[in-house]
Amino acid sequence: MTSQRTKTMRAVQIAQDHSIRVIETDMPSITADEVLVKPCSCGICGTDLHILHHGFPGTNYPVIPGHEFSGHVVEVGRDVVGLREGDFVAVDPNVTCGICRWCKMGRPNLCEKLTPIGVGRPGAAADYVATPARNSFLVKESLGGGLAAMIEPLACVLHAIESSLGITGKDVLVFGGGSMGLLTAIVSQLRGANRVVLADPAPGKLTIANSVGVPEAVSPPDLGSDYFDVVFEAAGAKAALTQAIDLVQKTGVLVQVGVHDEHETVPFNPFRIYERELRVIGSNSCADKFPEAVDVMSDIAEQARPLIDDSHPVWNFDAAVSDMAKGQTIKTQLHFKN
Ligand SMILES: NC(=O)c1ccc[n+]([C@@H]2O[C@H](COP(=O)([O-])OP(=O)(O)OC[C@H]3O[C@@H](n4cnc5c(N)ncnc54)[C@H](O)[C@@H]3O)[C@@H](O)[C@H]2O)c1
Ligand SMILES: [Zn+2]
Ligand SMILES: [Zn+2]
Repeated sequence: MTSQRTKTMRAVQIAQDHSIRVIETDMPSITADEVLVKPCSCGICGTDLHILHHGFPGTNYPVIPGHEFSGHVVEVGRDVVGLREGDFVAVDPNVTCGICRWCKMGRPNLCEKLTPIGVGRPGAAADYVATPARNSFLVKESLGGGLAAMIEPLACVLHAIESSLGITGKDVLVFGGGSMGLLTAIVSQLRGANRVVLADPAPGKLTIANSVGVPEAVSPPDLGSDYFDVVFEAAGAKAALTQAIDLVQKTGVLVQVGVHDEHETVPFNPFRIYERELRVIGSNSCADKFPEAVDVMSDIAEQARPLIDDSHPVWNFDAAVSDMAKGQTIKTQLHFKN
C-alpha cells in the first residue's frame, strides 16, 4: 500500500531556534507493531507553545508537533491485531517503554523512557504519522474528528479526577476555565459531585462555563470563604495556586493539574496544611485513562462540542498558535482538508 502513496509527505516542523516551517520529508515507515495514521483533527495546547517558545523536556528537535489527534488508519504493521485499514482512531501520544519500574507499577505517565508523539517522536501535524497500535484506540466515526482529538485532554482530566481520591458527593472547586478546567467541571458533575464551582478571571470563560452547564462560575476574587473538599488548580497560574490552598476543606485534596514554569515557586502556609490535614497531589498527563476517555467523550459530547471553537489548516500552524496564545479560545484545533 505504501507503494501507492508518494514517498514523501508534507509536515510542520519546529526547530530548536523556535522557527516553524512546512517541509517535504520522508513518509514515516511503520514497524511491525505500529499503524500509519492519516490525521483528521489535531488540537494544540500549552505543551506545543512550550516546544515552540521555550523548549519542553524530552523534545527531540527538529520535531513535527501534534499530540492530541484523531485520524484514519491507512496501513497496518505485520503483527498488529484488532486494527484495520480505514479504522477511525484517537491516539494516546504517550509511548512508554513498558519495562521500567514505573511502567511495571502501572504508572505509564511516569515512564523513565517516555517518548510522546509530537514531542519525542514525530507528531500529527503532517500528512501521516506512525503510531504504536497499542496507543491507537477505535472511535465511532459519528463522534467526529474534533471531539475524537479532544479525548487526549479528557484522559488527562480523568487522571486528575482519579488523583482527587473521589469526588462523588463532594464540593469541588476548579481554578481555570480553559479546556482542562471546563472538562474537569463537566466530568465532576457527571461523577456526582455535590457542588461544582469554576473560577476564572476572564468573564468570557465564565459565560462559556454557564453555557456548557456549569452554573456556578465566578471570578476568583468573588469566591468568598466557602471551603471545598476537592480543589483543582487547572489554571497554571501562581495566583490560582495561592488562593487554592486557602480554600481546601479539612482533610480535603488539592490536585495540581496546571503546569507551572519548572523553576517557579509559590509560598504556602505549612500550618494550614498541618492543621487541616490537607493533601496536595500532582496529576501529570493521562496515565492509563485513554480507553476510559473514549467512552466518557461519548457521554459528554454535547457539552464538549462547543469547546472546540476554532480550526485552522494544519499548514497554518503558526497562525493557530498565535490565535491560541491570545487566550480567547478554548480549544484551537488543526484540520487537514486541503
Ligand atoms: N496535568 C496535565 O495532565 C495537564 C494536561 C494538559 C494541560 N495541563 C495544564 O493545565 C493548565 C490549563 O490548561 P488549559 O489548556 O485549560 O489552559 P488555558 O490557558 O486554555 O486555560 C487556563 C485558564 O486559567 C485562567 N486563569 C488565569 N489565572 C487564573 C486564576 N488566578 N484563577 C483562575 N483561573 C485563572 C485563564 O483565564 C484561562 O482561562 C495549563 O497549565 C496546562 O499546561 C495539564
Ligand atoms: Zn496537549
Ligand atoms: Zn517505562
